[in-house]
Amino acid sequence: MGDAKAPQQRGGYAEEVSAEELAEIGLRYEVDGEIATVTLNRPDKRNAQTSATWSALARIGAGLPEQVRVVVVKGEGPSFSAGIDLRMFTKEGVPGQGSFGSAGRQDDSSLKRLVDQAQQGFLWLRRPEIVSIAAVQGHAIGAGFQLALSCDLRIVADDVKFCMKEPALGLVPDLTGTKPLVELVGLAKAIDICLTARIVEADEAFRIGLAEHVVAGGDLGKAVADKAAQLLSTNRDAAAATKRLLQGASARTLEEQRAAEGAEQAERLRALFNAQS
Ligand code: CAA
Repeated sequence: MGDAKAPQQRGGYAEEVSAEELAEIGLRYEVDGEIATVTLNRPDKRNAQTSATWSALARIGAGLPEQVRVVVVKGEGPSFSAGIDLRMFTKEGVPGQGSFGSAGRQDDSSLKRLVDQAQQGFLWLRRPEIVSIAAVQGHAIGAGFQLALSCDLRIVADDVKFCMKEPALGLVPDLTGTKPLVELVGLAKAIDICLTARIVEADEAFRIGLAEHVVAGGDLGKAVADKAAQLLSTNRDAAAATKRLLQGASARTLEEQRAAEGAEQAERLRALFNAQS
């Protein structure tokens, strides 16, 4: 398990997570200018996730270089991610990567801490100063679906299969996926998807707003690169301010939102004017 205090701010970790450590966990992380790419890289296990995956994701988020504006999350092989590594539910767990095997003997506060630690791997993908894109092919099950939901945008291959499997396993989706799911598809559809644990394929995903674009599998990389280029074509600070406004909109009244727009615009106007003088 990772550090319970995994911070949401950049620069919180003095120590960067090494490529060797990531490889051991089944992750790859590359930064190319303003674009960072996180790859789930355990295709032989369909990119199943462990506590170590989530703790490493949190550390990547905390150490994200200031210049990064777009974060791409993708999976190697036929599936984006088959969700939690089911060995995590055994006593033995995944060697060196955690186990929930002792959950039955733990009290509320330690179990909540366990979940809180895991969630840190997902939360940072919503930060206003970045736009996160999930590139999803094949299965995105449970934790895999929630990882895709943690991203701002989902670009999917036509073979995508989203499934919120947790209720079928006696669990709830707890990796921060329930809020974006409801916001994207509405309460009734979210209840339908989660409480049946059924598979949502590409056509439906596009129709109900789960996916921004559906492309042929071979075109996924290009579609994501094109979207990243579009996102990088706007002004960095204006993009962050606009994302802050959009993210806050549903929780504000019109009057509050109007005021928030004014406050952000005052900042922008000042910055533009000062840049010219
Ligand atoms: N955990 C551990 N190993 C997994 C795995 C998982 N979630 N999913 C797949 N694997 C392994 C398989 O055991 C198999 O390993 P071996 O080759 O060593 O036997 C390998 O990956 C390939 O798997 P399949 O042969 O099954 O591949 P497939 O392409 O035919 O099927 C699949 C892919 C539909 C995703 C299928 O593997 C599957 O149903 N996996 C389990 C999905 C699941 O129930 N995930 C848990 C969801 S709940 C959750 O994630 C949230 C939470 O926090 C509780």
